[in-house]
Amino acid sequence: MNEKTTAWTEEKVRKTLPVRGEDSHKGTYGTGLLIAGSTDMPGAAIISSQAAMRSGIGKLVVGTSEDVIPSIVPVLPEATYWRNGLDHLASDGIQQEFRAAAIGPGLPPEEKVEKALHKLLEKDIPLIVDAGALEKIPSTFSDRKSPVILTPHPGEFSRITGVSVEKVQNARVELAKEWAEKLNAVIVLKGNNTVTAFPDGEAFLNPTGNAALAKGGTGDALTGMLLGMLCCHENYRHGILNGVYLHGACADKWVKENSAHTLLAHELSELLPQVLRHFE
Ligand code: APR
Ligand code: MG
Repeated sequence: MNEKTTAWTEEKVRKTLPVRGEDSHKGTYGTGLLIAGSTDMPGAAIISSQAAMRSGIGKLVVGTSEDVIPSIVPVLPEATYWRNGLDHLASDGIQQEFRAAAIGPGLPPEEKVEKALHKLLEKDIPLIVDAGALEKIPSTFSDRKSPVILTPHPGEFSRITGVSVEKVQNARVELAKEWAEKLNAVIVLKGNNTVTAFPDGEAFLNPTGNAALAKGGTGDALTGMLLGMLCCHENYRHGILNGVYLHGACADKWVKENSAHTLLAHELSELLPQVLRHFE
């Protein structure tokens, strides 16, 4: 626990962002699988799928409940679907190949989600675990070769670890590092100056973002951005760190011209094209 914690800076983002090669095609950037959204929380699927498709991905398959699909189609005609994907995943697993996957936004913490999570963990691909799925994680990911990325806010981190929110907030870096090692998972501990801690002790503080993000749905946007970034980056660490950085940078752009009270989470995806361009 002696490793230094440094900031993931603009300079590092500029150096590590992938370039879209002239001869590249959608297969170059991979297909992502997003298991998100339910009847009572359809918006999480919309917000996270838009964010994923804005973040460099080749193709996106959204596994969501049947009644959610018609609400995504008009705002994201580019996505494809795995109808009732959560149910199918929980019972049969996946047959198709994916570059990376994410599970959790807009899912209630139910047994089906736990089963689905276990099926995804059997696959050797980077996996983001958020929101409802965070409540159902095993006690360790020690057997897994590909990275598992947990994206808790302080309350979720507290539920995973049993450490009070107050203590978490007083020792964010130390605890994120400790638990990343303990769980063998990447921990993205969200909040002002999000901490990204890797199981080997490396950790970074994110300098972007502001209180405009303190509103429901912005975490779903982050999960989508991370999925897209994991698909288009060769180095998964860079994908995660750049995703966290750019998500915050979108909010920073917002408050330059708008009140911090007014940002809507889906608007982060509308800000990303210009924000990302700025760092290329
Ligand atoms: N400064 C910088 N960033 C912030 C700030 C802040 N003051 N407040 C929030 N953020 C960022 C976090 O770092 C994170 O990226 O906004 C995002 C919020 O993510 P979540 O807390 O996961 O919010 P979200 O999932 O969108 O909230 C919806 O999630 O856990 C459930 O029940 C909870 O209803 C809630 C739902
Ligand atoms: Mg959340």
